[in-house]
Amino acid sequence: MRFRQHGPSLVVQAPAKLNLFLEVLGKRSDGYHELETIMVSIGLHDTLRLQPDASGGISLRCTLAGEPAEGRRRPVERLSTGDDNLICRAARALQEATGCRQGACIDLTKRIPMEAGLGGGSSDAAATLVALNRLWRLNLPSDELHRIAAGLGSDLNFFIDSPSLAVCRGRGEQIEPVPMGRPLHLVVVRPREGLSTGAVFGNWEGTATPQSSDRLLDALRSGDLGTVGATLHNALQAPAEQLSEQVRKTLRAIDGTESVAAAMSGSGTACFAICRNGASARRIGARLRAQGLGRVFVVRTGL
Ligand code: C5P
Repeated sequence: MRFRQHGPSLVVQAPAKLNLFLEVLGKRSDGYHELETIMVSIGLHDTLRLQPDASGGISLRCTLAGEPAEGRRRPVERLSTGDDNLICRAARALQEATGCRQGACIDLTKRIPMEAGLGGGSSDAAATLVALNRLWRLNLPSDELHRIAAGLGSDLNFFIDSPSLAVCRGRGEQIEPVPMGRPLHLVVVRPREGLSTGAVFGNWEGTATPQSSDRLLDALRSGDLGTVGATLHNALQAPAEQLSEQVRKTLRAIDGTESVAAAMSGSGTACFAICRNGASARRIGARLRAQGLGRVFVVRTGL
């Protein structure tokens, strides 16, 4: 997450994430699933511009990067800007936790595709918490922001401190940052259709032998690209493939390129290719773009 002060406004870059490893360890009594997942933040980000509003109200405007004007958005990307939006819920939760009477006008420029497993909504909400904590001069400590974040969703906590790489456990809200050996070059493809997180978890049928993330973590620490590629894992990939033919098609298309390995991120539908270097990532990106599979992003880890 990056911040820039612009007069009275704070401008924040909220990054997307990829899950390089995701094991579902079982279903919990609260209806969620116990996870072990490795997440990296990537150089694809939404931008939030937040300005204090003395009225105490929270208002949100959303524009799609590269799209003409609000109201002419493609229906697939329709996004509520009302009180149910996670950004507004995060701002309200912060007001409630602190008794703060200030409000905010928030402008969101959306680049991260939705229903993709890229954590865009969670990152925007986490950025809202961190930015308003500064803008409203609340000085809440990090553990208090984490507590509020965990009450809003399972993926927000990763974005509060935005590490390049972390192992996440529990529902996904327990974060252990890990140093990364070298940045990864990636191509991310978001097929034309998305999937809801709840639907994909609901389609997971259990596993007899859960995998450990240890080998992948060691390889990421040491920068061993071959082992990184060989140890990618996502237990939600099969349930997502059953729900979306496009996930299967996208992974097949990536397999047909010079990539090191491919997998789906989170609950999908976005899939990614691990690439040898930046030049290879650009070639793979151009080839996948030409196949018209959906939106294609050539990125690196880190923001
Ligand atoms: O926590 P979040 O609101 O992002 O989760 C959306 C949905 O995904 C949940 O309602 C639940 O159905 C599913 N989920 C889950 N186990 C997790 C995270 C999410 O079952 N660890």
